[in-house]
Amino acid sequence: MLHSRLDYKKMAGQHLLVLIVCLILLKFSATFASKQNTTTLNEAATCIDGASITLTFGFYINSCPEAEPIIFSWVEKAVSDDPRMAASLLRLHFHDCFVNGCDASVLLDDTPNFVGEKTAAPNTNSLRGFEVIDAIKADLEYVCPQTVSCADILAIAARDSVVLSGGPGWEVEMGRRDSLSASKTAANNNIPGPNSDVATLVSKFQNVGLSLQDLVALSGAHTMGKARCSTFSARINSSSSIANSPDVNLEYLESLQQLCSQSDANTTLADLDHITPTTFDNQYYVNLVSGEGLLGSDQALLTGNEETRGIIECYAGDMGAFFEDFKMAMLKMGRLQQANGGDGEVRTNCRAVNQLGS
Ligand code: HEM
Repeated sequence: MLHSRLDYKKMAGQHLLVLIVCLILLKFSATFASKQNTTTLNEAATCIDGASITLTFGFYINSCPEAEPIIFSWVEKAVSDDPRMAASLLRLHFHDCFVNGCDASVLLDDTPNFVGEKTAAPNTNSLRGFEVIDAIKADLEYVCPQTVSCADILAIAARDSVVLSGGPGWEVEMGRRDSLSASKTAANNNIPGPNSDVATLVSKFQNVGLSLQDLVALSGAHTMGKARCSTFSARINSSSSIANSPDVNLEYLESLQQLCSQSDANTTLADLDHITPTTFDNQYYVNLVSGEGLLGSDQALLTGNEETRGIIECYAGDMGAFFEDFKMAMLKMGRLQQANGGDGEVRTNCRAVNQLGS
């Protein structure tokens, strides 16, 4: 009896000890968690120093861990419904980044008192995928409201599109802010046109801080997707200098002439890579070497400059080298930002800036 009373006392003492240890642990983990949250919030806040934003890996790891899986599953569905969508989403990110940085300015709709970028020459009747971004954004707003920026959605969707098409994967840097405005003029000026010569292409890339090598690597995105006949008419017009360049593949050009003579040049489409049109591989470069690049600007990369030709020949023979350089160049392009990058917001609807007070 005495024994068991002692045992009880001992047990009670042990329980008390366990309880105290638990409380200490609880307190410690709460402090740790709150510190972690503070760090994250602080990181998000200090990342914006008024002039630029520092992008980070795993930016949403605490605030919205579901973000990347949600984006991936929507892109996966969109690409399985329409294989061209992978190309369209990749291009959206490019057209966003080249106009005052990757800030989702390309997604803003025109309104009676606002002109966005959608009607700029390189975009109008051409850019696709806005509905996919809308669906992703709606889902993310439901799961983690006002957290994931539209600009980050574009960057992640571009990566997922490449992966789903057989290309390389990479970790996307995040923490971009969505713009409060857009610039149709900058969209017209900054995005290169399909009849550009190499010097123009190089200078448009250098204007935003991307190198000649980045230009050749990123052009490899034309390993998938389509272009309208109107964008390569100079390439197939036998009197143009582009059509008469030394590396022309006549059989290929004749097939394009035939395709485009049949119907409306603004709606008829040809594959940018006619051998493996929906696969992300190095076939684009192989095509250039054999004179089968679709756009004048693509083929010009081979014929117009010794340096770009050398890189093309390297990628044509080494898919691994292309994948490595493409990843690096996508990361560099994904870092382009406005001078006042910190002025942005996280839009709740990618097509419109938030209302004041929201
Ligand atoms: C180097 C200069 C570039 C020029 C002159 C150029 C031009 C074009 C043109 C004219 C089209 C066809 C548009 C249409 O017919 O509606 C196109 C499509 C495409 N571009 Fe580029 N582009 C360039 C660079 C890039 C870059 C850097 C990327 C991405 C990293 C890219 C990704 C794409 C994709 C994937 C498509 C197919 C889109 C679809 O099928 O919806 N382009 N490009």
